[in-house]
Amino acid sequence: MLLLYSFALIVLPCLPGFDGYFHHNQAECRFTSGDLKDLEYISRYIFNKVEYARFNSTEKRFIGYTESGVKDAERWNQDGLADQTYGDLDAYCRPNAEYEIQNILSHTVEPLVKVKSVRSGSQRHSTMLVCSAYDFYPGGIKLTWLRDGKEVKTDVTSTEELYDGDWYYQIHSYLELTPTSGETIACQVEHSSLPKPKIYNWDPSMSDGERNKVIIGASGLVLGLILSLAGVIYYKKKSTGRILVPTS
Ligand SMILES: *[C@@H]1O[C@H](CO)[C@@H](O)[C@H](O)[C@H]1NC(C)=O
Repeated sequence: MLLLYSFALIVLPCLPGFDGYFHHNQAECRFTSGDLKDLEYISRYIFNKVEYARFNSTEKRFIGYTESGVKDAERWNQDGLADQTYGDLDAYCRPNAEYEIQNILSHTVEPLVKVKSVRSGSQRHSTMLVCSAYDFYPGGIKLTWLRDGKEVKTDVTSTEELYDGDWYYQIHSYLELTPTSGETIACQVEHSSLPKPKIYNWDPSMSDGERNKVIIGASGLVLGLILSLAGVIYYKKKSTGRILVPTS
């Protein structure tokens, strides 16, 4: 169920000793399918948190919920306000809903997927793999672990689909295992942005981060060796040079 809202808030003047009265009108455009067959316009009239009357486009009339609300509804239904409000279904709701469907709801964004190993927390297995899918839209994704093409169901845990707060979602699935050489481990992703399931293989070789650490460490070692070698050569030259100085 998708809702489009608009609000009109009226704060009535405050009398001394009162916190004020709050009247607001809440408009909702409700629909469950893209063809807008069940589009419904609801306009709620609320006074101090109590909804006293509501226009329902499916019933084409106002309905009252309190004693005075029933009277209001009756009057509004008779004096033509109901017909006028019904016009908002097509004048207000339909264009807004069409705009939303076309510009937001029909969009899909493919997830950015990474498969990597992290330190295992368990004693039973040597490795823990994590398959992370980032920044996909809309929600609704399926991650499956494949070991040589066959689905793995045991030792798999997953986070919920996490809402990033910026329309995008992320999810992380974990697989604990003891890898054997030669087998292929992969994470299969199914999402509405993908015409068919996409498979991401785990690359057991070093990750970029690890490789960089090794390169930096090795460079440091080589640099250290060169410097100490230069030091030794310098020291040797100096001491031999001193011996060669004529003594007479
Ligand atoms: C509007 O009226 C229809 C028909 O009576 C009903 O099915 C629907 O639930 C109502 N919607 C709301 C939000 O009250």
